[in-house]
Amino acid sequence: MSRFIVLLGPPGAGKGTQAKLVSGKLNMPHISSGDIFRENQKNKTELGNLAEGYISRGELVPDDVTIAMIKERLSRPDCVQGALLDGFPRTDAQAEALDEMLNDLDGQVIAVPYIKVAEEILIERLTGRWTCPTCSRVYHEKFNPPQNAGICDYDTTELYQRNDDKAETVTRRIRVYLEQTQPLIDYYQNKGILLEIDGAQGIDMVSADLMSALPQE
Ligand code: AP5
Repeated sequence: MSRFIVLLGPPGAGKGTQAKLVSGKLNMPHISSGDIFRENQKNKTELGNLAEGYISRGELVPDDVTIAMIKERLSRPDCVQGALLDGFPRTDAQAEALDEMLNDLDGQVIAVPYIKVAEEILIERLTGRWTCPTCSRVYHEKFNPPQNAGICDYDTTELYQRNDDKAETVTRRIRVYLEQTQPLIDYYQNKGILLEIDGAQGIDMVSADLMSALPQE
């Protein structure tokens, strides 16, 4: 049985930051739906062109497109033991599709850490975020600055600010999250696998809480 972890939380909660930190410790591939879309946008693929309008408006890419993309990704050999999912599922339909996919793959969602952060903190985190286009690591100009301003610590690539991190788009993304993704908290709570994590703490404290909340082998 392969084991999957789903990171849940609003935009800017720190899902990507934590996924990068803990996926190595857990020896699981980190699968970020947002990173896959952005990679496709960069390479101007059909999927990237289709997703672009939705992402720049702060809306969700349609379920059928997103589900097909994740299904293909989970079918690759590196996911045979499981994976850490960041940004998927985000709607009821996606959560049900994930259950079906994992049924076919003899897999199971074993835990859903929900990184909880108040809305006013999210806006400051997202508007101050800088992202590496090569390794997709994220920084924050105040809370998590790179060693050299504007340069990724890992691969020295120049950092950029995401187009959807403008204040008005961030507000829209948070509204979409509240309407379409927040209901998944109940979905996973009812399955008994939701783990609430205080995401307002510093990055290292969030990681420590996350690691200790996860079920042991
Ligand atoms: P996606 O890339 O998934 O964006 P998101 O869910 O909005 O999440 P973010 O990446 O913005 O935030 P995060 O929680 O990862 O925070 P981070 O660690 O970067 O999706 C983008 C778009 O793609 C969507 O809007 C949608 O259009 C589309 N999409 C993606 N998945 C989809 C799906 N399943 N269905 C349909 N459409 C989909 O941290 C944020 C900042 O805070 C950083 O600067 C970081 O350094 C800082 N920070 C992190 N933790 C802390 C801390 N503890 N203290 C202080 N600062 C911190």
